[in-house]
Amino acid sequence: MDSKMMHTTGFSRRSALKLFGVGAGTVGLGTLGIAPAAAASPVAAGVPAANDPGYWSKVAEMFTLDKRILFMNIGTVGSSPRQVLDVVDSVHRQVARDAESSYSDFADVRAVVAKAHGVDKDEIVITHNTSDGMSKALLGLNLREGDEILTTNHEHSGGNTPLALVRDRFGVVIKRVQLPIGDDQRAEDYVELFRAGITSRTKVIMFSAPTYLTGTMLPIRMLAELAQQHGITTVVDGAHIPGMLAYDFRALGVDFLAGSAAKWQCGPAGTGILYIRNRVTAANPNPLPEFWPVVSSGYPTDQSVDLRSRDQSQDIGRYLQSVGNGSKALNAGVQKVSEIWDEIGRQRIQDHIVGLGDYTKQLVVERWGASALYSAKSDARLTCALTAFNPFQNPADVKSAEKSAAFVSRLLEEYGVEIRNTRLAVIGDPTLHSPVRVSTHLFHQREDVDRLIDSAWKLSKSMA
Ligand SMILES: Cc1ncc(COP(=O)(O)O)c(C=O)c1O
Repeated sequence: MDSKMMHTTGFSRRSALKLFGVGAGTVGLGTLGIAPAAAASPVAAGVPAANDPGYWSKVAEMFTLDKRILFMNIGTVGSSPRQVLDVVDSVHRQVARDAESSYSDFADVRAVVAKAHGVDKDEIVITHNTSDGMSKALLGLNLREGDEILTTNHEHSGGNTPLALVRDRFGVVIKRVQLPIGDDQRAEDYVELFRAGITSRTKVIMFSAPTYLTGTMLPIRMLAELAQQHGITTVVDGAHIPGMLAYDFRALGVDFLAGSAAKWQCGPAGTGILYIRNRVTAANPNPLPEFWPVVSSGYPTDQSVDLRSRDQSQDIGRYLQSVGNGSKALNAGVQKVSEIWDEIGRQRIQDHIVGLGDYTKQLVVERWGASALYSAKSDARLTCALTAFNPFQNPADVKSAEKSAAFVSRLLEEYGVEIRNTRLAVIGDPTLHSPVRVSTHLFHQREDVDRLIDSAWKLSKSMA
């Protein structure tokens, strides 16, 4: 049938399906034995063999990043592998062609993501991003006037905004511990900081791990244990965890962890991963916090559910996932990229990229001195693939937001290296600091770190 005929008769696969009594939005193509485009692509084809000597450079070939730029700002946004772009594109086209709706709880996608993080699919929601996950977590808790949330002075607006909402709406009191910077700290110090801030009214401990300002990892498991001892709920802003760290969410013992699927996990833009503890386990034997799925079109409207029951599992992931018509294409992208990460090996990725982060920190100390580091270095429990440092020959220049911004743009324009800077409060200094921040990922190798450090060193000399 030529295209003209198709046009004049109005015949298409979609109308053919209608002739067979299959309406858009009711049954997928798979019902007729026609494989949907997403399912057609082989799992992670193109991942190099595990023992390939050029392993990481072949992994880098899976990405479409502009080779003229050394991109080291994954902490802001990742970049999807080619196969993920293809899946998203083909599913998007299939959905448009067949005018398919998707009133779905995306159970298959959540099952893949859940397995990768040691939990069950009723504990996972594919969100829009970290900020969406943080809002769903904090605004779903049963908080009342006078309750306290203990957090830090280094939080991102993605967490600070829902904190402000519960403060203004319910009269919840937000208290903040002041975080240290640099390498002169140990995991136990964080536990003591939080312990000192807990009162009989503390209902929630909320913190970023790692913080986006210094790249220091907070000791999640230790803080979760502290919270559990006091019957406190834990909400972790884990924007940087999915795709960077091979964490088993259940073993962490936290109640909520909101992350991005588009940063280190390199899924499509506009995707995130929210973990909601839905089990009473050895890692967290406390009752489940009272929690409401505040954004949902899947929560039963017939009063068949009692979410106040504190020890029984409800399908909380499904309630929060089902929100009107969803995106098959984005969800297919999240599934595909998760499978690719699983095939490479999440621990292998973590070892490679945190190793590159350690190497970055070591070179920073060799060139600029230990005091230039804003990230922790010596305590491995506090390190990750983010590194923040003062790149200036005159250390006081780190207090100039303009100079720091100029450093970032000149590094890109003159050396082709893309990083970012941050702006943060430092204990004992009334002026904010603006160090630069570097992300090392699976498409990088040690030579890339060498290039970054050499470029930053030369630029800092020319800006002295
Ligand atoms: C610690 C932290 N939380 C939240 C966010 C917001 O992330 P998203 O864009 O996924 O909402 C970021 C973004 O950089 C971040 O670093």
